[in-house]
Amino acid sequence: MKVLTVGGGAREHAIVSSLVKSGAQVYASMSNKNPGIAGLAKDFLLCSDTDIPKISEWAVERGVEMAVIGPEAPLGEGIVDELGSKGILCASPDKKAAQLEISKEFMRNLMKKYELPGRVDFEVFDDMENLEDFLTHYEGELAVKPIGLTGGKGVKVMGEHLHGKKEVIDYCRKILEQKIGGESKVILEEKLEGEEFTLQVFTDGVKVIPTPLVQDHKRLYEGDEGPNTGGMGSYSMADGLLPFVDEEVYKQAVEIIKASLLAMEKEGRRYKGVLYGQFMLTAKGPKIIEFNCRWGDPEAMNVLPLLQSDYLAFCEGMAKGDISGMEAEFEKKCSVCKYIVPEGYGIDPVPGNKIAIDEKGIQEANARLFYASVDENDGEIYTTTSRSLAVVGFAEEMERAESSSERALSCIKGKGIHMRHDIGKPESIQRKLNHMKEIRG
Ligand code: AMP
Ligand code: GLY
Repeated sequence: MKVLTVGGGAREHAIVSSLVKSGAQVYASMSNKNPGIAGLAKDFLLCSDTDIPKISEWAVERGVEMAVIGPEAPLGEGIVDELGSKGILCASPDKKAAQLEISKEFMRNLMKKYELPGRVDFEVFDDMENLEDFLTHYEGELAVKPIGLTGGKGVKVMGEHLHGKKEVIDYCRKILEQKIGGESKVILEEKLEGEEFTLQVFTDGVKVIPTPLVQDHKRLYEGDEGPNTGGMGSYSMADGLLPFVDEEVYKQAVEIIKASLLAMEKEGRRYKGVLYGQFMLTAKGPKIIEFNCRWGDPEAMNVLPLLQSDYLAFCEGMAKGDISGMEAEFEKKCSVCKYIVPEGYGIDPVPGNKIAIDEKGIQEANARLFYASVDENDGEIYTTTSRSLAVVGFAEEMERAESSSERALSCIKGKGIHMRHDIGKPESIQRKLNHMKEIRG
């Protein structure tokens, strides 16, 4: 089957690898030439992810039958609707369904309207006067967010990035004035305390097939310090749970996703594709931080390589809106993913540094390499301003998966790059367990 993929990150490299493994002929559209994807695809198009007319025309010319969209931006702009009108099936949500990620206001209002489990208190403002009035009377701490997409970098939390109401007001004013996230609106949410985890599912809008849980590390620096990024690395466990998430919490998270999908269907926005739930496990159980209408990046790289079932068949099932007869099998292994990013990433990144990659060494370390945003020039690889590449170690035990990711990192050399070594290390996991004990008592 000829499959169009959109996106040139490490997540899409993982998606393309899994599609090719299950026999697809991949036609990849990406904004940068990802060497991993370019090497696997039948053909590729260098094009902005949101240039929908160009991508659609190219896909039609190539006789593509189905599409899998990696990033959220083209979904928000209706790529699935456009491809659908050309007779191309999509294993991703249409524009109406993608609102679940695209608008935090839509998502929070949906959860409120249907009184869904896992919802949080929030208020939306489009003017400073009402916002300041609200703040004078508000006692607790808040998370401040633009309504629209900011690549995971627009959220600021009181006590972490914002200190005191004055800083909250200044940031809200900046969001409204500069229309950060695309709209002159800001959402204030109750601040949740706990540990975050990711649950990604396959869905046709009704049936839900969960994949192993993953914990991402959004902060730039070791010890979960510094600004939020798109994600610096992640781990998953062989049993599909996490050290601080038991079977009971896992079931609650699945129920939250199922209830949200049902609400979407009632709203006439049936969702198909991979749905990503970002949860905070709090003293009162799991709460939704956000939904994403796609695989997570890095989380896709933890989960997809372990999928033993036919990924292409899942995509076809989701695209046709029926996965009722399907089950997913995953290899029972732990995974540890670590990203290499340009120095200054998330603040003021410095691009253009050469990186040397010993691919054979990475293989020998039992790890996988996924390229993200790099430039290739005369066979050499250079950093850009986005995340460069990721390595993922796999093993039956966590400690071996982590050491395999470290061996893989040592196969990558270059100046001006940054990575977090602490992800998946016993001390780091213990810290998360201790934090959770403190919170849940
Ligand atoms: P988001 O872009 O919505 O995923 O938010 C980015 C990060 O901000 C999350 O991964 C959390 O660490 C933090 N965050 C978002 N919403 C909240 C909240 N209501 N309470 C506490 N932290 C939050
Ligand atoms: N890992 C966070 C995201 O994919 O949005």
